[in-house]
Amino acid sequence: MTPNYYDPPAPLIEIKDLSFGYSERLILDGINLVIPKGQVTAIMGASGGGKTTILRLIGGQYKAQSGSVLFDGQDVGQLSNPDLMAVRRRMGMLFQFGALFTDLNVYDNVAFPLREITKLSESMIQDVVLMKLDAVGLRGAKDLMPSEISGGMARRVALARAIALDPELVMYDEPFAGLDPISLGTAARLIRRLNDAIGLTSIVVSHDLDETFQIADQVIVLANGGVVAQGTPDQVRRSTDPLVHQFVTAAPDGPVRFHYPAPSFADDLGLPVITPKPQAQTELESQTEPQANTFGENS
Ligand SMILES: Nc1ncnc2c1ncn2[C@@H]1O[C@H](COP(=O)(O)OP(=O)(O)O)[C@@H](O)[C@H]1O
Ligand SMILES: [Mg+2]
Repeated sequence: MTPNYYDPPAPLIEIKDLSFGYSERLILDGINLVIPKGQVTAIMGASGGGKTTILRLIGGQYKAQSGSVLFDGQDVGQLSNPDLMAVRRRMGMLFQFGALFTDLNVYDNVAFPLREITKLSESMIQDVVLMKLDAVGLRGAKDLMPSEISGGMARRVALARAIALDPELVMYDEPFAGLDPISLGTAARLIRRLNDAIGLTSIVVSHDLDETFQIADQVIVLANGGVVAQGTPDQVRRSTDPLVHQFVTAAPDGPVRFHYPAPSFADDLGLPVITPKPQAQTELESQTEPQANTFGENS
């Protein structure tokens, strides 16, 4: 898709001054962001930063304590139950590990929401199911049970199920977790391809920097309860903000500390503090050197 900088796509979702916490603890502190129609938006940030919470607020499972979540102009938190149900029907969600029903085969898993929600005849359901399975490359696997397919395939079946009702928005919560690199690449490209082919809007919550940056039009980075970056993958990569920089380079330490604040290790163990001797470093190097050579010769 060619971005058109003069005429940006209309927003499908607008989040305005949104604050939310579980009981006393504030998780999202006055965030603002826009999810444009037709694009793939990645939401990234440290674990526990509130990414899943944002998806739940968009889906109306939770209501904002202040601020608003507008879906196509409607404030999700203010909708009556029937209106919320109608809005939710326009959303597909693929949650962590997108669990399939283990006692249903691939076909019936995808047919499930169609049978639950629509009044379509079985022959129409068949057309839809086969079309969705074809879109994820698994029409040929329709009769297999979940136990007979790989993790990557299961994720694709869950994706076919998430798009069965032709949603406008699909939210993926860590769709790549636990996948091997090849399945991960396949799943990522599939998310991009479906987004463009079906004309979806996609939100992908993920920790996989490389794959996610490759498929996203827009990247949003959350930290400390706020949005610390929102832009194209290139813009976010070039950010000079130390928080964002630490995140895109996956550095273990920076403004976000690797270590939870703790007393020194020596203090915790009740040991006297020892300053390391300078030759310790050299000893370690001379030990690892021959190993590297041996490995090189043998391979
Ligand atoms: N239902 C809940 N009740 C209380 N705390 C929760 C609940 N769900 C999530 N949290 C806490 O809120 C924070 C944000 O969670 P979450 O949105 O799941 O983060 P992320 O998806 O970015 O890892 C975490 O500290 C988590 O422990
Ligand atoms: Mg999460």
